[in-house]
Amino acid sequence: MAKSYRIAVLPGDGTGPEVVAEGLKVLDAASRRFGFTLDRTHFDFGGDRYLRTGEVLPASAIDELRQFEAIYLGAIGHPDVKPGILEKGILLNLRFALDQYINLRPVKLYPNVDCPLKDKGPEDVDFVVVRENTEGLYCGTGGYLKKGTPDEVAVQESINTRKGVERCLRYAFEYTRRRAKRNTLTLCGKTNVLTFAFDLWERAFHEVGAKDYPEIKREYAHVDATCMWMVKNPEWFDVIVTDNMFGDIITDLGAMIQGGMGIAAGGNINPAGVSMFEPIGGSAPKYTGQNVINPLAAIAAGQMMLDTLGEREAALAIEEAIIYAVSQMKSLSAGKMGFSTSQVGDLVAAKVAG
Ligand code: IPM
Ligand code: MN
Repeated sequence: MAKSYRIAVLPGDGTGPEVVAEGLKVLDAASRRFGFTLDRTHFDFGGDRYLRTGEVLPASAIDELRQFEAIYLGAIGHPDVKPGILEKGILLNLRFALDQYINLRPVKLYPNVDCPLKDKGPEDVDFVVVRENTEGLYCGTGGYLKKGTPDEVAVQESINTRKGVERCLRYAFEYTRRRAKRNTLTLCGKTNVLTFAFDLWERAFHEVGAKDYPEIKREYAHVDATCMWMVKNPEWFDVIVTDNMFGDIITDLGAMIQGGMGIAAGGNINPAGVSMFEPIGGSAPKYTGQNVINPLAAIAAGQMMLDTLGEREAALAIEEAIIYAVSQMKSLSAGKMGFSTSQVGDLVAAKVAG
């Protein structure tokens, strides 16, 4: 019998539904060719639903989503909703509640893609960021004192637990081992200023590495230097592991050196639970409904989803089709692709179909 996977689809806001539609088109082509089925259930969580009902995420949502083998997400963020409400209430809530403690973000430049780095090509830009996804500054711990007065104080704390840090590091070491490229894991931190948080990270990094992953070379770079090296010598990186906030920041830089938000995808991974795959670019409200947004990031997120589900061959076929599509496109930027959103989806889907 053909394998079947239960997938929750959350198209979300803005251009999310458009790019998810193209992603599903490609996933369908892959499932026909490689002989599995995706049993899909759509959920309308997002800004429109919130504006209509006043509810960000229904109480039953988390338990319902736990029943799926993976979640395929478009984008969260609506121009008519105050920043933070949907991001915290949906995206971060799902990451935390489903304990998706890894945010896996490959930074890979494909041939024929414009790279803003002078004299750098696909052989130079090919690394992976493992971002801790449930702790750090994202916990929402902190508060105000004397809010709205001249004496106002705002505190936002970074939470780093030994358990949370160690499981993230272990994932990164395992990933580096499996990737078998340069066998080098770089811890990106700020040990010279964040002397509590990154002291814990650094100690755990060397303890875990020395004991259980002696063949993996351990390197360390401060986050500011990491940004510098990502521009100057991206070929030095193999796998980078870092905390939630630094990971957020350096992966936008990563997206730029791999060709832009139009192609950057990520996975929110719970290795023992339900993972969620998304284009990292956001809802791009100004392009909504125009059929001009680049769906490749969403398609690449679908590729990561299949890879994680164990459909390796299908995932590889999608990657090959993406490589073909970018060779045909004028640009990866919205409105400048030389194709519409749906045409890019067609191009990739046809290639995947073989
Ligand atoms: C990302 C996004 C989110 C984050 C926002 C939308 C909360 O920027 O996935 O990188 O900061 O994690
Ligand atoms: Mn981000």
